[in-house]
Amino acid sequence: MDVHISLDGRRDLSGQIYRQLRAAIRDGRLRPDDALPPTRELARRLDVARNTVSVAYDRLMGEGYLTGRVGSGTFVSEAGTPAHAVTQGSALRPRPVWDSIAPWPSQDTAPVTYDFRVGVPDTGLFPHATWRRMLGSEQHGYGNPVGHKGLRAAIARHIGVSRAVRTGPGDIVITSGIQQALDLICRVMLEPGDRVAVEDPGYPPAHLLFRSLGADVVRVPVDDEGLCVDALPPNARIVYVTPSHQFPLGVPMSLRRRTALLDWARRHEALVIEDDYDTEFRFGGRPIEPLQNLDSSGHVVYVGSFSKTMLPSLRIGFLVAPAPLRQALRAAKYVSDWASPMGTQAALARFIDEGLLARHIRRMRREYQARHELLTTNLPSWLTLVPCAAGLHVTALAKDDPAPAVTRMRAAGVAIMTLAECSRSESAAPGLVFGYGAITSTGIAKGLELVR
Ligand SMILES: Cc1ncc(COP(=O)(O)O)c(C=O)c1O
Repeated sequence: MDVHISLDGRRDLSGQIYRQLRAAIRDGRLRPDDALPPTRELARRLDVARNTVSVAYDRLMGEGYLTGRVGSGTFVSEAGTPAHAVTQGSALRPRPVWDSIAPWPSQDTAPVTYDFRVGVPDTGLFPHATWRRMLGSEQHGYGNPVGHKGLRAAIARHIGVSRAVRTGPGDIVITSGIQQALDLICRVMLEPGDRVAVEDPGYPPAHLLFRSLGADVVRVPVDDEGLCVDALPPNARIVYVTPSHQFPLGVPMSLRRRTALLDWARRHEALVIEDDYDTEFRFGGRPIEPLQNLDSSGHVVYVGSFSKTMLPSLRIGFLVAPAPLRQALRAAKYVSDWASPMGTQAALARFIDEGLLARHIRRMRREYQARHELLTTNLPSWLTLVPCAAGLHVTALAKDDPAPAVTRMRAAGVAIMTLAECSRSESAAPGLVFGYGAITSTGIAKGLELVR
């Protein structure tokens, strides 16, 4: 390891080396088992006598910071390092809102045998070899902040045909998943303290983001027609919704509600964010028209993602900007992270253009439909399914709080989420949310036996 040491003058050189190495070990920059350079090599690099370095090493060994292993060199010892590095004395603190923000769902380390986690596609069925072939493109520059031109054109065609979104490549900004699209929209639209209305229950990562940016997040109930538009707070600047497959309940927003929401947004000059995260997987019924298609006044920004149709690890999503926000959203992407990785974007453009995305979606739709049917027709009798015909998860309501049952299930290796984890309201309906992207049909059948 090339440890950084800077010597000042020619006095007490051993002492200087000793103190700098000790500090690096104490504050955790050098960790147990890290190898130090041989004395001869470090002496040459620092332009000092070898003995000067040896004296420093000997002293650190004597104090237990280093150990020598015959034939292999000098290493940082376990005993000499603190359990964790602590920098003391600083009064720096994050803004208080960060005390209550943590990744969701909480990172559970229990071993999982039956994985009903939500929002995870089956990465095992992805055509990895084909994808690797696409990845060879030469894209070494910073790239255009709005995204790869070919990809924007491919997405515009794809969502134009499959989702009736009215758009062209010039409206699209490629983002690092939907999550970054939401971040950019908020940067462009919100002043600190502005209101953002969200669905309750809803998608926590979005709510956490809004709160982290200083928004006043107001939860609005959802019923079997979707968001209760009548309950919107009058001064909301943004309304964030999942109309085609409400997260997590799964209900589509009725046409009546969609029309009412657009009318409301127009009257209040509010922006509606339409999150269309997983509707490619629809197993029956008619797909609902996106708000973006029904909107004639430019109050909707549509956001989509390749996390479900491809792989979450790609971190590729996009937004379709209404004309008045287009320039600001492009600039927001630029100041946020310049551009998303161009090589991945070029590969995705090819993947779509060659019909491989459509083929993969068709295949996965059949697979997920079989899992959806298996799950929904075999739920135990204490659960009542919330009807839904799309996506990668279903919700089932319970009469009582399922938390004790969930504790037992988790101990038996079942990863599952409660409805309460998607809501902050005390009166959240008791229920469970079953993802079926990461679990095979065999796993579903066996896992359901433990759902009691
Ligand atoms: C409601 C909702 N929006 C968006 C996403 C995906 O976000 P991203 O594109 O950042 O992976 C998910 C994933 O689970 C989701 O459930």
